[in-house]
Amino acid sequence: MILDDGWMDRDLSERRAAAGVQPQKGGQAEGAVPDYLEQHYWWAYVRPGAVRLWERQWLINLVLLGNYRRLGAAVLEALGAFPAGRCLQIACCYGGLTVDLARRVASSGGSLDVIDILPVQLENLQRKLWHGAPVRTAVMDSTDLGFDDASFDQVLLFFLLHEQPPAMREQTMREALRVLKPGGTIVVADYAPPAKWHPVRFLILPFLRLLEPFASDFWRLELAQILPLQLDGRGWRKSTCFGGLYQLLVRGGSGG
Ligand SMILES: C[S@@+](CC[C@H](N)C(=O)[O-])C[C@H]1O[C@@H](n2cnc3c(N)ncnc32)[C@H](O)[C@@H]1O
Repeated sequence: MILDDGWMDRDLSERRAAAGVQPQKGGQAEGAVPDYLEQHYWWAYVRPGAVRLWERQWLINLVLLGNYRRLGAAVLEALGAFPAGRCLQIACCYGGLTVDLARRVASSGGSLDVIDILPVQLENLQRKLWHGAPVRTAVMDSTDLGFDDASFDQVLLFFLLHEQPPAMREQTMREALRVLKPGGTIVVADYAPPAKWHPVRFLILPFLRLLEPFASDFWRLELAQILPLQLDGRGWRKSTCFGGLYQLLVRGGSGG
């Protein structure tokens, strides 16, 4: 399902081609898997077998070193107890977060859009939702969202940016901000530079570096340094957990 197919610009297509995303028409991404996903994340998202393996709350919790629930709760709190209006989650995630978000959105009479570039991920999400959930799903590239400017009250990016090559993560953030209404709330949950003493620096990051080739920036730099143009001067609030390894960046909402 495509909600609005009118947005595309030439510079963007060139950038995306350079980053390995195959050409699409009018924001539609069906069938086009970016090179970085196919090469580096086939085992996590792309193959149906991957979905069957990873759609286990305990396993995703293990990947996040026991912090899935904590991060999910922080995301929901940052979005507000009962997010009203239109909410957008850019890219699916395993586990129960989207279902919890959908429940909260439903209780306020709002709606949730979830986009992902892989149909297999959206199908997996649909299996987890209840009949009549106020959730629309669309196959779409985060770097080329087929939505009008300023069309969402809330936007969520949950552990997507660190998986993308630099040019694509910049464009994803630009798009996330473009579709957010002025005064709306945007929440980014992702890795952050852990404390100097943190054992994960020696025990886990060397291993994760092999699996997540674009993530190492996030363990060295602040997101405002990684995405200076997108995050500059916009009143972001940062909170961290687990010795700084995970961060929530929030703009807008009740705290701002
Ligand atoms: C949000 S990220 C990581 C989530 C986290 N590991 C978890 O499952 O909780 C993974 C999702 O991003 C999607 N994705 C990656 N690149 C994308 C892009 N350019 N546009 C839309 N979705 C994308 C993948 O298909 C996958 O479903």
